[in-house]
Amino acid sequence: MKVTIRQATEADLPGILDIVNDAILNSTAIWSHYAYTLDNRRKWLAERREKNQPILVAVLGSDIAGFASFGDFRPHDGYLHSVEHSIYVHRHHHGKGIGKQLMPPLFHAAKALGKHVMIGGIEAGNTGSLKFHRDLGFVETGRLKEVGWKFDRWLDLVFMQKILDASTDIRID
Ligand SMILES: CC(C)(COP(=O)(O)OP(=O)(O)OC[C@H]1O[C@@H](n2cnc3c(N)ncnc32)[C@H](O)[C@@H]1OP(=O)(O)O)[C@@H](O)C(=O)NCCC(=O)NCCS
Repeated sequence: MKVTIRQATEADLPGILDIVNDAILNSTAIWSHYAYTLDNRRKWLAERREKNQPILVAVLGSDIAGFASFGDFRPHDGYLHSVEHSIYVHRHHHGKGIGKQLMPPLFHAAKALGKHVMIGGIEAGNTGSLKFHRDLGFVETGRLKEVGWKFDRWLDLVFMQKILDASTDIRID
């Protein structure tokens, strides 16, 4: 399904909020117990804008079908060239190729900012997302046991990374 990919505006925040709150309330994709507010998303947009970090939306007609963004990986300057991304597609539109259209512009934006590595933190049971990222050239580089707690159970976190300017993707087996 072909979507238009563009930078998010304030007007897109309710659509983004719907997607993210569905993931919070009904999945272990985000390890938050409480729904976000529109105000919280406004602050997030402002912070990302201030750092020139993109929030890309996939637009279908007048609806926000998904979004992808990245922020700092860790706060210290030595991590300046690494980013941690997030990607969410509306659950009515999973598996229609929308995530696959959002990621290349996100790689492009990261490279344009001189970023070297993109990192995703994925719940170990989220096999769809693990495969999605593997297909895009991410490789698993770490697995943290029982660092999360949601829905009355421990969650493991898988780190996957992609070196953005490598001509071939690294393999760490
Ligand atoms: C993970 C996610 C972003 C993928 O986006 P999507 O639009 O559904 O994925 P696409 O349709 O672009 O799929 C691209 C590839 O990913 C893989 N994939 C995506 N979802 C999958 C699933 N549930 N199971 C297995 N493979 C899956 C497929 O290999 C697919 O390749 P194909 O086209 O050859 O079949 C989306 O499903 C989503 O938002 N999931 C819930 C939230 C989430 O887990 N976000 C990531 C947090 S780390």
